[in-house]
Amino acid sequence: PHVLLLGAPGAGKGTQSKRLAEAFDIEHVTTGDALRANKDMDIGHMDTEYDTPRAYMEAGELVPDAVVNEIVKTALEEADGYVLDGYPRNLDQAEYLSEITDLDVVVFLDVNESELVDRLTGRRVCDECGANYHVEFSPPATEGVCDDCGGDLIQRDDDTEETVRERLQVYEDNTAPVVEHYREAGILVEVDGEGTPDEVFESISDEVDAAI
Ligand code: AP5
Ligand code: ZN
Repeated sequence: PHVLLLGAPGAGKGTQSKRLAEAFDIEHVTTGDALRANKDMDIGHMDTEYDTPRAYMEAGELVPDAVVNEIVKTALEEADGYVLDGYPRNLDQAEYLSEITDLDVVVFLDVNESELVDRLTGRRVCDECGANYHVEFSPPATEGVCDDCGGDLIQRDDDTEETVRERLQVYEDNTAPVVEHYREAGILVEVDGEGTPDEVFESISDEVDAAI
């Protein structure tokens, strides 16, 4: 299947994409993780305002389209089935995506804003393996230590309250129109993202099953 998972920052795209990729044996294609792994790559030659992805990400701004389009194109060329997470984030990216692939289903994860802020400011990630935790909603067995690999749990640079607010604004301005675009195209299904991770996963899997 070709699945697109849309939702605001903190809606649970990463959490659910990982599960979907495993359950359906497809690739998890995520621009956020790809950019975090290449934060300091030199993009100055692409005529961008800043020289690295890091500068955009720490400000909560979008990394320029040329950079992310290239990441997605390469990843999709190598994938048979996929779940796409974090892209497209504006209408130009959605237009580009339509030129390189066809989607079976677009799932929109709906979560209210105060819940988004709580999830993001409480998130901790393993600095070794990338596993995701939440200080309240899914704490590790030992505070600050990854259950899977024993690595240190850290807060993402962009999960401070101020940057979270900026990311939510960028989402409203740029990405909410993408949701409407797919709704009008008739391939959007909406899932309540406020249940437990298991409940949300079940709803998404049902939608994917129904679409393929
Ligand atoms: P990216 O990494 O894509 O971040 P995001 O969209 O802001 O999303 P998050 O990863 O913060 O949240 P999520 O929806 O994946 O939620 P998660 O599962 O982690 O992008 C980061 C930056 O990169 C952007 O700001 C931008 O600069 C750049 N970028 C990326 N893609 C780009 C693009 N296409 N174009 C331009 N720039 C781009 O869950 C969040 C927390 O909630 C976790 O702690 C989790 O444990 C918890 N949680 C999850 N599900 C539940 C649940 N059901 N109940 C309770 N808690 C839950
Ligand atoms: Zn770990």
